[in-house]
Amino acid sequence: MCSPEHFAVEYAINPWMDVTTPVDSQLAVKQWDRLRESLVGLGHEVHLLTPEQGLPDMVYAANGAFVVDGTVYGAQFKHEQRAAEAAAHRAFYESQGWRFIAPIETNEGEGDFAYLPDAHGGLILAGHGFRTELPAHAEAQEALGRPVVSLRLVDPRFYHLDVALASIDDENVVYYPGAFSAASQRVLTQLFPDAVVADAEDALAFGLNLVSDGLNVVLNSEATRLAGKLKAAGYHPVPVELAELKKGGGSVKCCIAELRH
Ligand code: ARG
Repeated sequence: MCSPEHFAVEYAINPWMDVTTPVDSQLAVKQWDRLRESLVGLGHEVHLLTPEQGLPDMVYAANGAFVVDGTVYGAQFKHEQRAAEAAAHRAFYESQGWRFIAPIETNEGEGDFAYLPDAHGGLILAGHGFRTELPAHAEAQEALGRPVVSLRLVDPRFYHLDVALASIDDENVVYYPGAFSAASQRVLTQLFPDAVVADAEDALAFGLNLVSDGLNVVLNSEATRLAGKLKAAGYHPVPVELAELKKGGGSVKCCIAELRH
């Protein structure tokens, strides 16, 4: 995770960002801190990246890389404004001795990649259409040695996979069908017949932008109906308020890069 000390909406690279909306960075830090405390309270270890001035989106740490079984596939940001974030993530992984593979293709890390270790022997889901480009899906497959299933995103409000779909345990997902092309929706129903399906309202409340440890599902507090569905499916929803970070177009998952040893 990376503190939103320097968070601001200085440019608009997704439909949620409006440079005229004021951001309360102190409140952003406070809300982010509660998210960090929730994770620690659930028994997870949180490592921190040092935020850098001039990189206002660095709080969205999920975009910096994608890690599977100890191997790190680095990011190559689509927009110039975020390009420098990739080096900070790379330095973190290299200093900790992870196996790092530098990308050539445009991809935004866990923003567009999800991993299901127990689905079909270990499956990567990958989004394209807005940020990550299709050749990166093939590059990730070669880097990580897991099959990559490409899913096409069609609604600019859901510009990353992680605002439309999340893993809720090692083999199942929750997603909002409307974010995907009709063909990709068919692929998802074929692969995940038991998926939890979210509605537009919960999706627009950033409900899908969640992290789960297989039992506890940390999600945006506005996604109340989704929290109910997850509870009914046997999970334990942990709501967190992240209103300030929504102004940059992100929520819970965007703030967290998962370290998979
Ligand atoms: N403002 C950031 C961008 O548009 C938000 C990134 C959100 N991160 C995510 N993993 N969806 O790039």
